[in-house]
Amino acid sequence: MEKYSIAIDGPAGAGKSTISKIVAQKLGLEYIDTGAMYRAVTLKALSTGTDISDSQSVVELLKDTDIDFRENHIYMDERVVDEEIRSSEVNQNVSSVAKIGEIREILVSKQREIANSKSVIMDGRDIGTTVLSDAEYKFYLNASVEERARRRYEEDKSSQSYEEIKRDIEKRDEIDMNREISPLVKAEDAVEVDTTDMDIEEVVDFIVGRVRGGK
Ligand code: C5P
Repeated sequence: MEKYSIAIDGPAGAGKSTISKIVAQKLGLEYIDTGAMYRAVTLKALSTGTDISDSQSVVELLKDTDIDFRENHIYMDERVVDEEIRSSEVNQNVSSVAKIGEIREILVSKQREIANSKSVIMDGRDIGTTVLSDAEYKFYLNASVEERARRRYEEDKSSQSYEEIKRDIEKRDEIDMNREISPLVKAEDAVEVDTTDMDIEEVVDFIVGRVRGGK
């Protein structure tokens, strides 16, 4: 098959990254986790004591930060930060960083650059609407907030309770869906999949089936 892209969007905990990784393996695509990029900038801001409400300082910080994906790891300034970017502190601050226009511009252009040279499956919040608006395949994964919080609670190794995780998810969704630039919304031409009562394999099979079937 020629070079093509799959865009996966949806709210936190809808299964995007788990599903995307498996689909990438099955179809021989590169998986790009764009949320990890917003998380890496947030981690850097938190670890350098940068005031997140001061957009300009965060933008300057990003210009001075190297974010890269290699062999399924995310690097920040040449350091693997796969685990650190999943902390509850990063969870609670990432959406405030992601609403800064200039931060989005820098990261979106990096994301497009990556997708330009190879077939990818990319997940995030604005992939089908903005980053890869010409993607051949677009899916919007959704699930009830209770189910999404339950999944995060089960995979999370931190000490947060189910209620705390649910509150964090709701708050993050609220910021992501209502921000001015590229809010989280289903692209008109995306196929919506409600994963609340589906297991991982069913969602993977559905996506792989659509792609192999050329729809
Ligand atoms: O996908 P993940 O939950 O890791 O994303 C973390 C946060 O990064 C999201 O809640 C959102 O604020 C931001 N994000 C975004 N645009 C993307 C990917 C993630 O704004 N394409």
